[in-house]
Amino acid sequence: MKKIKVTLVGGGSTFTPGIVKSIALRAEELELAEICLFDIDKERQDKVAVVVDWILKEDVKCDIKLTVTNSAKEAYTGATFIFAQMRVGGYKMRELDEKVPLRFGCVGQETCGTGGLSYGMRTILPMIKVIDDVEKYAEKDHWILNYSNPAAIVSEACRKLRPNARIINICDMPIAIIDMLAASLNIKDVSNIRYDYFGLNHFGWFTSIDYKGRDLLEEIKVYIKENKVLLPPQHLEKIRKNKSTGDRHAVSSWLHVWESVYTMMESFPDYLPNTYLTYYLLSKETVEHQDPTYTRANEVMNGRERDLFAGVDHYLATGELKEDTFYAGSHGDWISDLAIALKNDTHARFLVITENRGALPNMPYDAMVEVPAYIGKKGPEVIAQNPVPLFQQGLMMQQLNSEKLIVEAAIEGSYEKALQAFTLNKTVPSMEVAKQLLDAFIKENGELWPTLK
Ligand code: G6P
Ligand code: MN
Repeated sequence: MKKIKVTLVGGGSTFTPGIVKSIALRAEELELAEICLFDIDKERQDKVAVVVDWILKEDVKCDIKLTVTNSAKEAYTGATFIFAQMRVGGYKMRELDEKVPLRFGCVGQETCGTGGLSYGMRTILPMIKVIDDVEKYAEKDHWILNYSNPAAIVSEACRKLRPNARIINICDMPIAIIDMLAASLNIKDVSNIRYDYFGLNHFGWFTSIDYKGRDLLEEIKVYIKENKVLLPPQHLEKIRKNKSTGDRHAVSSWLHVWESVYTMMESFPDYLPNTYLTYYLLSKETVEHQDPTYTRANEVMNGRERDLFAGVDHYLATGELKEDTFYAGSHGDWISDLAIALKNDTHARFLVITENRGALPNMPYDAMVEVPAYIGKKGPEVIAQNPVPLFQQGLMMQQLNSEKLIVEAAIEGSYEKALQAFTLNKTVPSMEVAKQLLDAFIKENGELWPTLK
């Protein structure tokens, strides 16, 4: 059988080492021969490649070939899987996505609220370019598995502009929530947890969670009520002492969102909300909690990013790779397992962002929703869910239309549609504030945004 090539778009990402480790550990199932890193930032990618090389040779000890390139043609030629995780504008622009809204007293977050709209405007056209280049050079039966954010907006743009593209958009947050739930309830074999879920990306709810016949949704409700947070005690203790938990989402800056799950469920106890709903349902409280001069982007730059590049320098100087150089775990495992399901036609169950096509009966047919699906060679077969209750449906429609409008704004270069997207967003209190925010983002994004007229 033919051995395959996997290409990582955004090879210089801080997530690259973790993903490489996950696919290297699954090399046999993937029949993997080559990993290719592709980034437009050569200097950054070359450094990350040092760690990747170490993972393949010293850590996993396998003979997978590593190639590193800045050419799209070279990157995609012969590739069967393309894992995209690009960040248009880098962490510097993420910092602005988070800080600009805070100037106006609105939620400062990279994928939610107006920061997400800003990031979406930067990412739509570069993502379409990836699809076109892949189609031109990669294997005919290729799949693009896309982590690039803001996934809701990116996936809507792909659906609209390239409806036949072989792309599946995914997110690791629901699985991170399941990890946290499992750790809280002392369950080790997370893969035996089965759940139902409905929503948009970073905007959804778990409606059932089953583990070998146990109703974990009910168990976690009791746990959250008692502990006032969705985190296991061992993580909480380490977070309070500022020690590493080994889980990227169990850090002090995320504590607030894990606590918000409790707050949200106190009022609306039926379903387990995605932590990202904090930004919409508790907007005011989130702003009050945020430091407008030091946001998550600063933490990531001073943490994960700094550790990675310091780790490379240390390794090059001493030949020793420190443990905190990179994280590996469910983020990389999730995308790698999805590739295995596609390749080996397993029909395993995954949560994906996909065209609704009736899966949520009272949401538009063409909405890009996040629902469970069976994954085989032909892609996702969505699993129908119950009708969405009025409250959640109202929230989802508002968010969906805001996201659709920003995509149309980018395609048509329409200022008016962008302003409608901003005005409709739940984190924005008025049309006037929406206008000020939009104008500020136009200025800060400059050439990185399509021109709006
Ligand atoms: C979660 C989300 C991702 C997001 C990430 C940010 O995993 O699902 O979409 O990119 O969090 O994490 P960071 O550590 O960069 O703040
Ligand atoms: Mn996500």
